[in-house]
Amino acid sequence: MHRVMLLVPADVLRPRRPDAHFAAEADAAREAGMDVVLVDHDALASGGADEAVRRVPADAQAVYRGWMLSSERYADFDEALRRRGVVLRTTAEQYRRAHELPGWYADLAEITPRTAWTEGADRSAFVTACGELGSGPAVLRDYTKSMKHYWHEAAFIPDVADATAAWSVASRFLELRDSDFAGGFVVREFENFVSREVRTWWVDGVCRLVGPHPDTPDDLPDADLAAAEPLVRGLGLPFVTADFALREDGVWRLVEIGDGQVSDRPRSVPPGELPLT
Ligand SMILES: Nc1ncnc2c1ncn2[C@@H]1O[C@H](COP(=O)(O)OP(=O)(O)OP(=O)(O)O)[C@@H](O)[C@H]1O
Ligand SMILES: [Mg+2]
Repeated sequence: MHRVMLLVPADVLRPRRPDAHFAAEADAAREAGMDVVLVDHDALASGGADEAVRRVPADAQAVYRGWMLSSERYADFDEALRRRGVVLRTTAEQYRRAHELPGWYADLAEITPRTAWTEGADRSAFVTACGELGSGPAVLRDYTKSMKHYWHEAAFIPDVADATAAWSVASRFLELRDSDFAGGFVVREFENFVSREVRTWWVDGVCRLVGPHPDTPDDLPDADLAAAEPLVRGLGLPFVTADFALREDGVWRLVEIGDGQVSDRPRSVPPGELPLT
């Protein structure tokens, strides 16, 4: 295998150190013999990718662990690194496919709640998406995130057939997401989940770690991943997470896919256990 270096965000105030949130992962990677190089997250997130990667030496391949980036900013990151002779193992196209729901939904439709989405934030498109689901409760998010901490205000839609009430949830969602709103509205049929979530980590289609979800780090249910395994492998992506929850009928359902580089690590998972390569 080629040598792979790890890129992590630098601390904002002490730019020669890793951001505290990723410091333990940086240490673990170094102990495992990887080179660790710091990048400037604020520059990455604000269109200054060349500046952000100015300390990265030319090398074969890199993997990133850091804060979420929009697909557009990740593409800038990828291009700036290529100009320095460095290739991110996850291409910009692959990042978008894991990071944004429309990128993975078709491949996993069998095991995840039925979903409709829009392009952009238009009310009429939103009402059309609700119409595709028909009637009944739904959960709202955009291509990358929900507002789950504002459940009744901005996430849970009691009945998609009530367009006025649904739009008031969507309006509040837009207000809260503000400039982070990504892609369009995503409306998902509500399913009754009765377990905590399991976050699984996959490298090249192989499940390398099964852990808790970061919101419930001390609770790891025993999930049956047999049905999901070939479908997640079929994505053909280098590094993803897949979150699962048990539905009331006893079926393990996929809640979402994420790019493994920007998925939060639960505090109960030792940093050295994350499969980076
Ligand atoms: N279709 C659904 N039916 C029932 N509950 C759902 C559904 N979709 C999402 N949820 C609930 O809402 C939560 C947030 O949804 P989701 O994981 O899509 O958003 P997120 O904000 O990206 O989460 P994360 O913090 O994992 O990044 C889930 O953890 C789950 O509890
Ligand atoms: Mg989630």
